[in-house]
Amino acid sequence: MPSSIQLILSLSTVFLIISAPIILANSDSIEDRFYQCVNLHTDLSIPFPKAFFTPKNASTFASTLESTAQNLRCLVPSKPKPKLIFKPLQESHVQAAVICGKELGIQLRIRSGGHDYEGMSYTSATKSVPFILIDLANLRSINVSIDQNSAWVEVGATVGEVFYRISQQSKTHGFPAGLCTSLGIGGHITGGAYGPMMRKYGLGVDNVVDARIVDATGRILDRESMGEDLFWAIRGGAGGSFGVLLAWKLRLVPVPSIVTGFTVPKTLEQNGTKLLYRWQQVADKLDEDLFIRVLIQTVNSSSEPGKRTVLTVYQGLFLGRIDRLLRVMKREFPELGLTQKDCKEMSWIESALYIAGYPSTVRPEFLLQGKPFMNKTHFKAKSDFVTEPIPEHALEGIWERFLKEDAPFSIWNPYGGMMSKIAESATPFPHRKGRKIMIQWLTAWQADDAKTEKKHFGWIRELYEFVAPYVSKNPREAYANYKDLDLGMNNIHGNTSLMKASLWGMKYFKNNFKRLILVKTKYDPDNYFRHEQSIPTLHSLSEGNVNKLFN
Ligand SMILES: Cc1cc2nc3c(=O)[nH]c(=O)nc-3n(C[C@H](O)[C@H](O)[C@H](O)COP(=O)(O)OP(=O)(O)OC[C@H]3O[C@@H](n4cnc5c(N)ncnc54)[C@H](O)[C@@H]3O)c2cc1C
Ligand SMILES: *[C@@H]1O[C@H](CO)[C@@H](O)[C@H](O)[C@H]1NC(C)=O
Ligand SMILES: *[C@@H]1O[C@H](CO)[C@@H](O)[C@H](O)[C@H]1NC(C)=O
Ligand SMILES: *[C@@H]1O[C@H](CO)[C@@H](O)[C@H](O)[C@H]1NC(C)=O
Ligand SMILES: *[C@@H]1O[C@H](CO)[C@@H](O)[C@H](O)[C@H]1NC(C)=O
Ligand SMILES: *[C@@H]1O[C@H](CO)[C@@H](O)[C@H](O)[C@H]1NC(C)=O
Ligand SMILES: *[C@@H]1O[C@H](CO)[C@@H](O)[C@H](O)[C@H]1NC(C)=O
Repeated sequence: MPSSIQLILSLSTVFLIISAPIILANSDSIEDRFYQCVNLHTDLSIPFPKAFFTPKNASTFASTLESTAQNLRCLVPSKPKPKLIFKPLQESHVQAAVICGKELGIQLRIRSGGHDYEGMSYTSATKSVPFILIDLANLRSINVSIDQNSAWVEVGATVGEVFYRISQQSKTHGFPAGLCTSLGIGGHITGGAYGPMMRKYGLGVDNVVDARIVDATGRILDRESMGEDLFWAIRGGAGGSFGVLLAWKLRLVPVPSIVTGFTVPKTLEQNGTKLLYRWQQVADKLDEDLFIRVLIQTVNSSSEPGKRTVLTVYQGLFLGRIDRLLRVMKREFPELGLTQKDCKEMSWIESALYIAGYPSTVRPEFLLQGKPFMNKTHFKAKSDFVTEPIPEHALEGIWERFLKEDAPFSIWNPYGGMMSKIAESATPFPHRKGRKIMIQWLTAWQADDAKTEKKHFGWIRELYEFVAPYVSKNPREAYANYKDLDLGMNNIHGNTSLMKASLWGMKYFKNNFKRLILVKTKYDPDNYFRHEQSIPTLHSLSEGNVNKLFN
């Protein structure tokens, strides 16, 4: 294969004599055969160094692997690495990758923006299963059509790039997707995609009108040719189960030319616990133009030197101007004590930077770099849905635990509005009416070692147990985009037990899990697209009868 040939040509004669037999012996490796097969299935020959990255070239391999990978915990040396990274340059390359991967019996890991919480787009929990990484970062074109109130977006584009391109065409159009601007629109939309306009317009998946996907046979399908079952499944059934998405067609939503952002911090000493209890009572009932989330972390106390305290930061986006916001707040949530000086008027695109936590010196053009502003960390996270406000004594129990951890973090997102108006079965994302708040629990650290990881895993698992009585039950719901392998894993060698799959499947999808299994069985009967928490097929479920689970 060309890489071997190039390598041979570039090496000295002496070294060639020693190394040639090794290279030749390697030339039948799975990655070589994959490369040959992909070239055979595409019209033009793909220049190797432009699109393929092998561990033989350690530095480019590592930088390509690390490029968009967000969770450093999933990049540590002990984590399985791909045999090869392929970065398709056009859609037909993705088709070839699926056909060849299937033919050679090697698994694919599919990556758009690399923000998967368990790194399932670039590593594996099972060492013995080799895989090739298909990194879609080169497929990132965005075509906004204000006339048609829509945008076609290739999966490798980040949320921030999409927002920016929309804002370049119009100050009064937007799209309701995530708060973090470096998310890949590909993986992000597959699991739901919530953001600061969810109360007004619902999730990203609620505003997708078409898609292009490469299915398990290598065909490219759009909404019309895939049919409504598969189109339903890909809008919330999470990534890596049904095929390789190439692009989404998004429906734009109206936004005012001026919106208002605000930030109000409260520590425990400032009655933070009481206020958070009050916020839980009102957050889902506020005016639909208003989104107030709470970011929770620990900080040094300013009143008592040497003491730590919990800081709750109320961060808001209001789809309107300051004067109306202040009237709404006075009527609906006066306890926060919001004043004019906490508020800032801005354009919608500036609000995307504001809510993502960028300093005000960062300009919207930064979004075109498609990378996060924050430094990467090692992290572990979990999610919960709240149906009744968590009582103050339980909040105090949470603070007690937070104060024992190095860098705990939690984000509480308000529900209500459009989220309550969409039926649980409208998309695979089932967490709709009756939920007041979605919580994310997170802990982060910097050291690479297993001992440190174990300590932080222990902390978050204990917190998760402690919170159990105060959150949704039967099932305890979880957000599929906040992937958590503690909830259970498939046997990715093949058969998966129904009982095991339903442990995580019911939490992420509730009764939609059944329809997801049926769609999966129809479109990928061989269960080619699989990972630790991919939707299983009926055939691959080794015990029980699917109907039993849902009756
Ligand atoms: C810092 C941070 C902030 C976040 N903020 C939010 C937020 O505000 N709102 C929210 O809803 N979520 C948020 N998330 C979660 C995020 O939505 C998910 O992690 C999402 O899956 C990321 O998509 P990606 O393309 O970046 O990830 P990837 O790691 O590339 O992919 C995630 C999953 O989707 C699969 N996949 C990726 N691309 C494709 C494709 N083209 N076809 C088929 N399958 C594919 C992967 O195999 C993997 O299983 C956040 C995550 C992080 C790390
Ligand atoms: C590794 O890849 C880079 C970029 O393609 C290339 O410049 C370099 O020559 C390669 N090194 C080797 C040893 O092949
Ligand atoms: C955007 O338009 C260009 C030019 O017509 C096209 O090549 C590209 O594929 C389009 N992208 C999407 C995501 O539709
Ligand atoms: C906290 O609440 C108590 C009792 O409701 C009140 O007396 C006190 O002034 C409040 N403190 C602050 C900083 O708001
Ligand atoms: C918090 O306090 C600790 C110990 O008193 C100190 O080492 C640390 O620098 C402080 N952190 C900040 C952000 O001030
Ligand atoms: C990221 O890390 C670098 C190097 O440690 C540091 O200089 C920079 O300030 C950090 N950036 C942020 C946003 O924390
Ligand atoms: C899974 O189990 C079913 C039923 O026992 C069996 O028919 C099938 O061949 C198994 N598949 C694999 C991959 O082992």
